[in-house]
Amino acid sequence: MRAVVRSGGRVEGEVRVPGDKSIAHRWLIFAASAEGRSELSGIPSALDVASTARCMAALSGDEALASWAVDAAAEGEGERLTWNTSQPRNYKDEVHVEGEGRGALAPPSGPLDCGNSGTTMRLVSGLVAGCHFTTVLEGDEALSVRPMERIAGPLRLMGASVATSEGHAPLEISGGGLTGIRYATLTPSSQVKGAVLLAGLAAEGETTVEESAPTRDHTERFLRAVGGPVAADGNSVTVSAWRYPGFSGRLPGDPSSASFVLAAGALTGGAVSVPDIGLNPTRTHFLDVMRRMGVELATEGTWESVGEPAGVIAVHGVGSGLRGTVVPAAEFPLVHDEVAVLAALATAADGETRFEGAGELRVKESNRLEGLADGLRGLGAGAEVQGDALVVAGGGLSGGSADGLRDHRLAMAFVVAGLSARAECSVDGIEWASITFPGFVATMQGLGARLEVS
Ligand code: S3P
Repeated sequence: MRAVVRSGGRVEGEVRVPGDKSIAHRWLIFAASAEGRSELSGIPSALDVASTARCMAALSGDEALASWAVDAAAEGEGERLTWNTSQPRNYKDEVHVEGEGRGALAPPSGPLDCGNSGTTMRLVSGLVAGCHFTTVLEGDEALSVRPMERIAGPLRLMGASVATSEGHAPLEISGGGLTGIRYATLTPSSQVKGAVLLAGLAAEGETTVEESAPTRDHTERFLRAVGGPVAADGNSVTVSAWRYPGFSGRLPGDPSSASFVLAAGALTGGAVSVPDIGLNPTRTHFLDVMRRMGVELATEGTWESVGEPAGVIAVHGVGSGLRGTVVPAAEFPLVHDEVAVLAALATAADGETRFEGAGELRVKESNRLEGLADGLRGLGAGAEVQGDALVVAGGGLSGGSADGLRDHRLAMAFVVAGLSARAECSVDGIEWASITFPGFVATMQGLGARLEVS
């Protein structure tokens, strides 16, 4: 599906965005393998989250979870994707799961389909590494070329048998009998950290993950909030074996999704405010980068659930006052999901913006590093990859076309970039927004963006 964007619309207003994908994966995994009932609300119908719900329903046999995953899907659109301009018909953002403990998980009747979701595949691998049976995990074309040795390696060290297809999915994991390890990740990654910690909760002895830079800490926050054996020291986290209880939680909105509407406001001079949004500091660093670029922003905490803070983020439109910045490699792990939208913002800035140490973007849902540079050039910006850095020239977009490469964040970022272009911009593959942000197009239109889809 193609989105056609025209400038001249002012994006402004108050808007809620779908629940946080990263937290949803973890809470669904914990709920389905906990001992007791969990009551979760704010679960988004994002396709990645539905992938985790399906996998966990297959492992736990929980019927409520299985029917939630079915209801969360809108009318099929082909290639197992959905086009959620509005919420799917029967979708509710709540699910109650009756957990019977990790020991009650059973071999699934077939391979687990992780769809497009790397987080699903990596976290569920860590969970089943602790189960005394064999699980096969597979994914779509894009997921099947993403690196999986980064989780297979540590899980093998803990005692699981993990077969990959030359380092990629499908994965075949025979688990159980794990021993804790001390593991330093090769690249900072919260998916790898989460997988090893999940395995560590079923291992004998302590399991420690050390990282060279901080990454999102949703797994640790969950464990701390429900009273689990977790200790953090700088960038290292230690857990030991634990049978976790059921819990009740309300998910905040996803700040990575909010980044698109906030940037749209900043680009078009509109004031945008997003209530009930996650304010976990390991997720909101992009706000600091936006501030450096000249965007006026305010945040206010209003509530917290299961250790996750939430509140309001508001942007006061800046119109033409943006300036370029440097995002050094040390900041990259805290903004990697927002580089695409920050690069969109950078096209309208005065001066160049550099994203350094961004090589990991090559192994996201697409080669997001090259895809971003290509797409922004297609829209009339100056953009190039220099080693592991992305360099975006400011000065505005002349208009053109870009391919979202079946990558939700690329497609949404190109649409945002087009909002202030000098001529029409078209973006292919906007349906992929449903991976994390179902209703993206309707949300942007509702806020005043001049955006049509065909
Ligand atoms: C996620 C971790 C990320 C991020 C993804 C979600 C998570 O990558 O890109 O969208 O929920 O753990 P890393 O594993 O590279 O940190």
